[in-house]
Amino acid sequence: MNDSRLVIHHSTRQAYQDSFAKDVRTGLTVQPKTLPPKYFYDALGSQLFEAICLLPEYYPTRAEAEIFHRHAAEIVSQLPAPVGVVELGSGSSVKTRLLIEAILANQPELHYQPMDISASILQHSAEKLLGDYDRLRITGHVGDYTCGLDSIVRREGEHLLALFLGSNVGNYTPEESRALLKSIRSALRPGDGLLLGADLKKSPDVLIPAYSDPLGVTAVFNLNVLARINRELGGTFDLKNFQHRAVFNEDAGRIEMHLVSRVAQTVNIRALDLRVEFQTGETIHTENSYKYDLPQLATLAEATGFQPVNTWFDDERRFSCNFWLAT
Ligand code: TRP
Repeated sequence: MNDSRLVIHHSTRQAYQDSFAKDVRTGLTVQPKTLPPKYFYDALGSQLFEAICLLPEYYPTRAEAEIFHRHAAEIVSQLPAPVGVVELGSGSSVKTRLLIEAILANQPELHYQPMDISASILQHSAEKLLGDYDRLRITGHVGDYTCGLDSIVRREGEHLLALFLGSNVGNYTPEESRALLKSIRSALRPGDGLLLGADLKKSPDVLIPAYSDPLGVTAVFNLNVLARINRELGGTFDLKNFQHRAVFNEDAGRIEMHLVSRVAQTVNIRALDLRVEFQTGETIHTENSYKYDLPQLATLAEATGFQPVNTWFDDERRFSCNFWLAT
């Protein structure tokens, strides 16, 4: 597509490859072993995550979409028109459409700035959006949040609405999420807004199947990070020798995702000139998904330069959408 309404910045490609190699080396040479979750999202991983969002057990996507179906007009009216939209980790942008439509009902055009770590999903979703909304302009940023936040632009006279949806905030530890929200806040001005989708604390009977579905889609999504090391760094991971496991860590208030070594084994990673030993039952910790309650969210807002203004829930109160004003 050659559309003057679309610009995509890929400022960080080489740096990103280098950091993948570096982060894999660090993560697999510390005890306990760990890998950063952002590397799930290559082209294949991003599509596998879209499949997770369709699973009956994975309620957060549907709960958040339900909130937007019901409250999009009220949500976008928290800021005076005209607004520009920035989204961290936009993925397929499917839920965002509900907000885009609500905003376009209030103003003649909209500048949308999605950022995503996967170039392919960003490009594809941007083209689809432009095909469907002729009053939309898109500036995409491929990379992780830090570089995307540095390149946000705004037109004079417009407020920015930053979207951080899908409980992505839950994938950060409390310290990391404070740091990230502060850097989001620094990319904004007083009077701008943040819409934060946060999953709520609930029974492990609901949480565990959401992160360990019977069909095995989440397992494949988790294992893809090892397949990616094989593809991009010349790794020799035999995927049959690792098992997906989701556990609820009650004390930390989080679901943890692990890849468990089924046997004692050695894996080589050619590009890193690295041999990694695994004991039977040893795990690679690949992700956390923290679950919030409302007091924790209020504390987080106040610690990071925001004022919590409004919260919407799905019918079953599984998920929260929080509108915060930059103070
Ligand atoms: N932000 C999502 C969440 O915490 C990411 C996610 C959902 C995920 N399911 C997963 C990550 C399974 C790894 C594995 O809910």
